[in-house]
Amino acid sequence: TAPVSSTLELSTLKINADRLNGTIHETATFGAALRFGPGPTETGMARLALDDNDALVRQYFVKEAKELGCKVTVDQLGNIFAVRPGRRAGAPTAMGSHLDTQPTGGRYDGILGVLSGLEVLRTIHEANLTTEFPIAVIDWTNEEGARFPKSVVSSGVWAGELELEEAWSLADINDPSKTMKSELARIGFLGETPCSYEAMPLGAHFELHIEQGPILEQSSKLVGVVLGAQAYRWYTVDVYGRDCHTGSTPFGARSDAMLCAAQCIVASNKLAKEFGALASTGILTLEPGSTNVCPSHVRFSLDIRHPSTAELHRLCDALQEEMTRIGSKECEIGCKVRTTLDRDSAAAVFHDDAIIAVRASAASATSADKIEEMYSGAAHDSCPVSMRVPTAMIFVPSKDGVSHNPVEYTSPEECALGAQVLLHAVLNYDKM
Ligand code: GLV
Ligand code: MN
Ligand code: MN
Ligand code: MN
Repeated sequence: TAPVSSTLELSTLKINADRLNGTIHETATFGAALRFGPGPTETGMARLALDDNDALVRQYFVKEAKELGCKVTVDQLGNIFAVRPGRRAGAPTAMGSHLDTQPTGGRYDGILGVLSGLEVLRTIHEANLTTEFPIAVIDWTNEEGARFPKSVVSSGVWAGELELEEAWSLADINDPSKTMKSELARIGFLGETPCSYEAMPLGAHFELHIEQGPILEQSSKLVGVVLGAQAYRWYTVDVYGRDCHTGSTPFGARSDAMLCAAQCIVASNKLAKEFGALASTGILTLEPGSTNVCPSHVRFSLDIRHPSTAELHRLCDALQEEMTRIGSKECEIGCKVRTTLDRDSAAAVFHDDAIIAVRASAASATSADKIEEMYSGAAHDSCPVSMRVPTAMIFVPSKDGVSHNPVEYTSPEECALGAQVLLHAVLNYDKM
């Protein structure tokens, strides 16, 4: 392979937009979920972490990467590292994101980042270039936390933020007999390489992602240079009351777990607004689940986000107190409210050098008035990874700001622009 010969040759290097978009839509057959009913869509995806479709897209990714001369390593959490050698040995400059989706996801969240990384490899390979340092594309396992309910979990273990055993033992929320570890083994992606930044060091991490919000679209921008991401916590809240007959039990004699849970959820919304935060409940189950029985047990999820880690903690403390108060005072004869912290992620601050590489790349790919410097509302694999290596992200617009929804859409031109910025961010960093 010829070394990179001149800056001219490098700066004119272009990703292949048709090939990228073709790959996005062809691999969408692995987990396509057509949804009819409210908002029929042809673009829905349900590729839950480590299910059969995730296995298929992983096999595709491994095969394609090997054909491009990559060495592929799978670690103990099924994270796939496809590394293309550089002129020098050393830690690779990586492009990572995730191939799993929400149960009602779209074709772009996470997927764009990994497949754009593959497109960057294809572009560099086709041009017969050798970078200074190795470059890598990474598929991080179970970013979504939809099936195994801890988000950004495998990049979190890699970064030393979470324990391997904790991730391995996460159970499928619909089938507790299946764990992350058993499903990794079942689909053939339980690797032997330790999941850690020491065993699998990276030189830098770049992630192209759809914005998943309305900021770029509303300001008519095309590229977000992402400087960091907000802090978040996930809780499971259990409310315990007492089963009782709905017809014969006066309000004053009830310990109604559902009424208590409802008040707690409303309180989370009210407090979050006061703090300039977000609070959401996406899972709620109750027992026994009968029209004429007040439930004795309600379990719900709470997802709380704030740009500042310290403010997030203050809000969570205040909410905890308020929910305890609601349990003891507001629900007739009282309920017990127990919260369990499932995920605790500090605000991420990305690295100047990586941001500079993205900024320069964006400036060479589009006009200055199309670029926005911004923070991420969502969490990403780049958040834990940024604790260990220089990291930055690139955003492209989400139509109507919609994501975690089958109608999620980013145009082929916007996807291609994002991949182009990713390519040159990596090449810029390689020379830094
Ligand atoms: C990750 O998908 C998040 O919940 O932000
Ligand atoms: Mn994502
Ligand atoms: Mn997502
Ligand atoms: Mn995400």
